[in-house]
Amino acid sequence: MPAAADDFEFTEEEESVGRGEAIAETACAGCHALGAADESPHPDAPPLRLLSQTIDLDTLEARFADGSISDHPDMPDWQFEQIDAAGLVDYLKSVQSGPAE
Ligand code: HEC
Repeated sequence: MPAAADDFEFTEEEESVGRGEAIAETACAGCHALGAADESPHPDAPPLRLLSQTIDLDTLEARFADGSISDHPDMPDWQFEQIDAAGLVDYLKSVQSGPAE
């Protein structure tokens, strides 16, 4: 019998990153590149791995929670439940590349 997902133990942080990744795949991948080297589908949207070069990821959780992420007309403003915003930020931090924060 294949092991069910419940059989594995995740740390709280791994669980949070996984939740954030799932959100990013559904809500962000249409415009932002999620991978380590791909181009964003939307020409103006920075790949998520580069976000820490332009914004402070630690401020992002609050911006997600109050729905003020970007002024760009194409970028939807969401309001995530606080826990999902935290997961999304944990995920984003886990995929940053380039100069250290
Ligand atoms: C419909 C297209 C679209 C979707 C979907 C989208 N974005 Fe964006 N996003 C953009 C564009 C375009 C920009 C560029 C804004 C600018 O240049 O000011 C942007 C900018 C951003 C910025 C600001 C970057 C900066 O340097 O200020 C963040 C953070 C961001 N997006 C995160 C996300 C996250 C996280 C998701 C998924 C939850 C997401 N976006 C989904 C189009 C999108």
